[in-house]
Amino acid sequence: MEQKRENWGSRIGFIMAAAGSAVGLGNIWRFPYLTGMNGGGAFIVIYLGCVVLVGLSIMIAEFAVGRRTQLAAVGAYKTYNKKWSFAGVLGVLSGFFIMGFYPVVGGWSLYYIVKSFTGLLTVPEAIGDIFGAFIGSPVQPIIWMLIYLAVNVFIVARGVSAGIELAGKILMPILYVLLLIVTIKGLTIPGAGAGLSYLFVPDWSVVTGGTFLAALGQAFFSLSLGMGCMITYGSYLNKEEKLPNNTLIVVSMDTSVALLAGVAMFPALFAFGMEPAAGPGLVFVVVPQIFAQMGGIGPLFSAFFFVALFIAALTSSVSLLEVCVAYLMDEKKMDRRVATYGTSVVMAVLCALSSLSLGAMSGVTIFGVGAFDFFDILTDKIFLAIGGMLLAIFVGWFLKKEDLKDELTNGGTLSFGLFEVWYNIIKYVIPVLIGIVATVGILSIEQTSLMIFGILIIVVLAIFSKKL
Ligand code: PHE
Repeated sequence: MEQKRENWGSRIGFIMAAAGSAVGLGNIWRFPYLTGMNGGGAFIVIYLGCVVLVGLSIMIAEFAVGRRTQLAAVGAYKTYNKKWSFAGVLGVLSGFFIMGFYPVVGGWSLYYIVKSFTGLLTVPEAIGDIFGAFIGSPVQPIIWMLIYLAVNVFIVARGVSAGIELAGKILMPILYVLLLIVTIKGLTIPGAGAGLSYLFVPDWSVVTGGTFLAALGQAFFSLSLGMGCMITYGSYLNKEEKLPNNTLIVVSMDTSVALLAGVAMFPALFAFGMEPAAGPGLVFVVVPQIFAQMGGIGPLFSAFFFVALFIAALTSSVSLLEVCVAYLMDEKKMDRRVATYGTSVVMAVLCALSSLSLGAMSGVTIFGVGAFDFFDILTDKIFLAIGGMLLAIFVGWFLKKEDLKDELTNGGTLSFGLFEVWYNIIKYVIPVLIGIVATVGILSIEQTSLMIFGILIIVVLAIFSKKL
């Protein structure tokens, strides 16, 4: 018997879930360190450009395709054209691979909440060593990762409205409040101005081609685009919701959290004379040092911050898991629970490998990098941007314009004044733009064999598309 498709219980629930997916490690962990590594303000301006020009339009398209077909990524493509199944499968694969390292970092955030009270901050100079020793140790990070993953499993197994939606509704407001508290604290530190000008006064001399790819990749990652996540979330949406409006809200929430995270960190960082280009360790090494300098209340603020990081990560990895689960439910007719438990066991194994690649197994490499970097580079630098480009080509060139208009105006009952603009961006601008940025960027990936492997996966999927 056909089961009725699960649905979001309310508009606010959908928005919180979609924003929960978007707002994640990408905003609080990645955005600040990418900004620091790419010279500050100029990166932010280019990033915002990518969000407005590419991100907004793609998100509208993903919601539209999902709601129209009422199916998750693969099924949605398949409904229109079997030859395109591969684009959906590529998305599911991206979600699966991101879940090969994301919960590892999620586990670090959990550990840091506890560690905030148990000696992380006592000797500021030692924080870097504590972090290095922790992520490199063979057992502890894996245990925290498993705890983290278990929370995800619990939420996703409960289903769309009783699990994912409820978690978003409760957690997202808490995240905002915690981040605001830390931001205000950071801004009141004497000497905070230097950090603000680093963030908001662009220095164009530091911009290279790589800056553009980094910004584009980050826009996709941060907005959860290019892998069918928003198609899947759109498929649980009822026909009354206004897609363009909701997209604008979700994108604004995501962007504001990224900027807030920047404002929470950089002023304090500069005030204490620390290094902005610290890389992926920025949040886990530099930020605790800021809290350590605050004295007695430091541990409390530190815990606030890492709870916020944990929440942000959680509502995102839930969506990544859901993409895989929804695929198995829609396409393989699997039960939600079975699909959730099954996929997460495999993800746990991938994550354990990722975690070990930072320490005990650092000598073991695939295509020149450890497992952690392998999953990260493959998805961020290759799969997401290509996935987004495929979606734009599919929507712009293979779907009927009238159908899209019908979907975006809810059957003509509301107006979407920018429809033509949106359509032309999707059809012409995005394919060309991503085509250029992705080609230049992908060709510049240092690990040539990894780059070839990534492209090969896409080609093989495309060849066997009809069988997928
Ligand atoms: N958007 C999430 C973040 O910023 C990551 C993510 C990517 C989630 C793709 C779902 C899909 O952390």
